[in-house]
Amino acid sequence: MTDIMQSDDIERIMAIMERAFDPVFGEAWNRRQLTDALMLGNCHYGLLNARCIEPAAGEAAAGFFLSRFAYDEEELLLVAVLPGLRGQGIGESLLRRFAEQARARGAQRLLLEMRENNRAEHLYRRTGFTPIGRRPGYYSGPNGTRLAAITFELSLR
Ligand SMILES: CC(C)(COP(=O)(O)OP(=O)(O)OC[C@H]1O[C@@H](n2cnc3c(N)ncnc32)[C@H](O)[C@@H]1OP(=O)(O)O)[C@@H](O)C(=O)NCCC(=O)NCCS
Repeated sequence: MTDIMQSDDIERIMAIMERAFDPVFGEAWNRRQLTDALMLGNCHYGLLNARCIEPAAGEAAAGFFLSRFAYDEEELLLVAVLPGLRGQGIGESLLRRFAEQARARGAQRLLLEMRENNRAEHLYRRTGFTPIGRRPGYYSGPNGTRLAAITFELSLR
């Protein structure tokens, strides 16, 4: 899995980004946000195809993660799988790749922040993340509602 920013990887990530996120929550990043983050040098990504392996050159991806390394921590910024390919373990494989790559970079712990009631919570808990904090009303929900942000941690020590 590469960390070198390649324009076809941007295309592969954006193809998933545009289909995977519910527009109600405004969580999808645009191309500019993605390229800016990857140019900073401390953001990393991984891609998997439908067989849970790194896609070959020119092959479409089924899912991606995007993360940011700082000091001895790595934060999961986004993880997404194409809607038609969910429930087959691709998300779990992406989280495991994320953990492997972060450990190789020297991360002592992994962090992620989740909107409350996101169905991904079960996946995060299943892969070893535990909640460590809650910020009430942090996210906008449908019809003017506010939703808490829940921070999860996984120690790699
Ligand atoms: C979260 C997500 C990456 C999981 O991918 P996946 O390939 O289905 O994951 P797996 O097959 O390994 O595991 C399935 C788990 O995903 C979660 N899940 C299933 N459908 C989901 C959905 N529509 N939305 C969010 N999470 C879902 C559940 O926790 C499920 O676990 P369970 O079956 O034990 O209840 C995927 O559902 C997705 O892209 N969701 C939309 C984007 C998103 O919300 N990302 C997280 C915040 S950045």
